[in-house]
Amino acid sequence: MTAAPPARRAEDGSPYPDRSRPDFERQVRRMFTHIAERYEWFDHVASLGNDYLWRPRALWDLDRFRAGRPVARALDLGCGTGELARLVTRRHAAARVVATDFTAAMVAHAARVLRPSGEGARLSFARANALRLPFADASFDLVTNAFVVRNLADLDVAFREMRRVLRPGGSLLILEITEPLSPRFGAVFHAYFDRVVPWLGAAVASEGPYRYLPESLQSLPPRAQLLAKLKSAGFSRAEARPQSRGIVTAFLAEAGAPATQSR
Ligand SMILES: C[S@@+](CC[C@H](N)C(=O)[O-])C[C@H]1O[C@@H](n2cnc3c(N)ncnc32)[C@H](O)[C@@H]1O
Repeated sequence: MTAAPPARRAEDGSPYPDRSRPDFERQVRRMFTHIAERYEWFDHVASLGNDYLWRPRALWDLDRFRAGRPVARALDLGCGTGELARLVTRRHAAARVVATDFTAAMVAHAARVLRPSGEGARLSFARANALRLPFADASFDLVTNAFVVRNLADLDVAFREMRRVLRPGGSLLILEITEPLSPRFGAVFHAYFDRVVPWLGAAVASEGPYRYLPESLQSLPPRAQLLAKLKSAGFSRAEARPQSRGIVTAFLAEAGAPATQSR
């Protein structure tokens, strides 16, 4: 039996996930372990502060999409340091929110920065892989995730899992980096995203993660295809709401009736 070749690493030795390898998921987890402590502030710097606006704006879009139906149980996937999960908990004052991530260092960081009073009493953290969720069918009214789906090994499996844990009529919000709407602005965006961001990453000993970042965007299907995948996974209504000229998009979807089993 021949040993698998060693995982790809950048010149500074930092993890640099390679989607073509069978251990891609493990590499993604190693990468997020590597950047967990500096993830949040680096994100604010690299996005030039725009990420402060993107998550609240996506939740605002979600409110209009769901037309104010109550949320008793919500699930945030790939919660990272918990930024979106905290906003969801504040926004839905009666909801119990479970925030999950498959990187232990991220969950530990998120739990450490959470204040136990206020929304902290309604928000709990757990480790879970988005492709194999440890929750019963129809157990949530709302599923959210931000900047996660680019990193998933199998989008179709993940979307089916998101649909499975939602009750019929429940809502899904996916916020993700996407291709800008106009080619002219896209050229400016890619000069920054593909060259400056990896250079900034290298300055904090994380060249691999921030060279992987633009590669991960290339692996994401265009908006229309992603909406089609959501419909195939059992979402009855699915819409895309681009922000910042399309640099990010909030995908909103409503869980349809469960598929009837054919005998
Ligand atoms: C770019 S961070 C986003 C964190 C957070 N949602 C935010 O808004 O900043 C992506 C997160 O997704 C997690 N992740 C990636 N693949 C995952 C998977 N298959 N299952 C669960 N979490 C995953 C990573 O560990 C990481 O914390």
